[in-house]
Amino acid sequence: MHDATLRSDLRAVSGTPSTLDAELLVLPTWDGDDLADVPELDVATAGALADARARGEWRGKAYATCLAALTDAAWPARRVLLIGTGPDRGSTGQIRRVAAAAMIEARGRRVASLAFCLRAPSQTVEAAQAAAEGLTLGEFDGGSYKTDGDHHVVDRVLVARAGDAGDAEQADALERAVARGRLLGTCSNDARAMANEPGNTLTPTVFADRARRLAEGTSLTVDVLEQQQIEELGMGLLLGVARGSAEPPRLIVVEHEPDGGADAPVLGLVGKGITFDSGGISLKPPESMELMKDDMAGGAAVIAAMRAISLLGVPIRVIGVVPATENLPGGRAIKPGDVLRSADGQTVEVTNTDAEGRLILGDALWYAKRCGATHLVDVATLTGGCVVALGKITSGLFGAPDRWVDAVRRAAGVAGDRVWPLPVFDEYADQIRSDIADLKNTGGRAASPITAAMFLKAFIGDTPWAHLDVAGTAWSEEARPYQAKGPSGVAVRTLVELACAHAGWTGIGG
Ligand code: BES
Ligand code: MN
Ligand code: ZN
Repeated sequence: MHDATLRSDLRAVSGTPSTLDAELLVLPTWDGDDLADVPELDVATAGALADARARGEWRGKAYATCLAALTDAAWPARRVLLIGTGPDRGSTGQIRRVAAAAMIEARGRRVASLAFCLRAPSQTVEAAQAAAEGLTLGEFDGGSYKTDGDHHVVDRVLVARAGDAGDAEQADALERAVARGRLLGTCSNDARAMANEPGNTLTPTVFADRARRLAEGTSLTVDVLEQQQIEELGMGLLLGVARGSAEPPRLIVVEHEPDGGADAPVLGLVGKGITFDSGGISLKPPESMELMKDDMAGGAAVIAAMRAISLLGVPIRVIGVVPATENLPGGRAIKPGDVLRSADGQTVEVTNTDAEGRLILGDALWYAKRCGATHLVDVATLTGGCVVALGKITSGLFGAPDRWVDAVRRAAGVAGDRVWPLPVFDEYADQIRSDIADLKNTGGRAASPITAAMFLKAFIGDTPWAHLDVAGTAWSEEARPYQAKGPSGVAVRTLVELACAHAGWTGIGG
């Protein structure tokens, strides 16, 4: 087994393409681009680029590539790769994707070192960060159990900006942005590696061990609550889901407490940690059930984001809570019609054991509040209905009040995670009223992502809360030019950006 996160050396440099010391130069390109900022490039390829333009090989179409040899021996680089941005050439989001696509392409070509050149209008620190993120995301490899060892790593990676290498202030800002992007990319890949682990290797206990490992080298504290402590807290919903499995549940609690940080606000991040979801007694059909190993992607995002938040030194308290269990149909499993009692004292009729995510999150949200969270965000692969509504591109965003939901939406925009709001109007709560108990855990087919959110809302009270349903976005069944097949790392960067923004701090500029 190899490390799913391939680690190269990635650095920032200032300099023009003719001076960059890397085997492959990567330049974003677009329709109408004449490389006026690097006029010597075509000459250095002995006119190959002009040829490629004439043939229509060099074009601006998103992720279209054109490779040419650099014949000018005065250039340290041997080849140049032009890669199309599509029409959206200026946005940091597109730079991130183009950089990821370039890394995937370069790995396929067995490149040893590359320099990604930032070009106007994207010579900002934000673009440098996004490029570093994308290049790192492009290193992810999901074949961690392949024994053939065929995993190419681009050993040396540069993010290059034209500019005076002697300008120390500029060089420093560039370096910080690239380091930050590298960290966000690495932590996203850490989350992807966890979500990619099979159910038999990543049990709740192992998941907790991974959280401890990811906290190494940070100032995070990790507290793993075991079955008995979960019982003492009265978490009947988490315990109920865990009953069908031989693996004991865990409540993983990760805390970031910066020195000299104020008492408030305290950000509470809660992630669904179902290490395998069979549906329980309300068993799922076999088609694609294997993908339910990623039903802890929300929990993985929270744990990975906590690592980044700590290493960045975000100056507010942040607490991550991940309820972890399997959902299996063992002999002691909960049954449809069973009534459970939550840690906050509400009774829940379980009408479908496959609606287990909201159960464990109900208890975990209560726990995050009990630990002092003043603002909550949860991330969960919660409903198939969200995939129907928004597809595999966009995560559902829910919550209240609007100001807090908008803050999450803005953070997602910066991070490059697509989210879109859906309502949590009170009337929807009627659908999850039970005849026998306070709540039931399903609300029928109509608006199922919303009724799932309404269930979570019943555990929130007045605390600002946002919920991200990542059922469609946590896993990609197809490879995209900018993203490998498999786990996406969704929400990691959103949570980190949110923590920074909430602290009124960017970390980029100082
Ligand atoms: N983990 C699933 C949701 C899911 C479905 C994630 C598809 C990713 C892809 C969740 O636990 C679930 O089973 N939800 C049910 C709830 C239903 C029984 C009310 C659903 O949405 O079908
Ligand atoms: Mn389920
Ligand atoms: Zn589930």
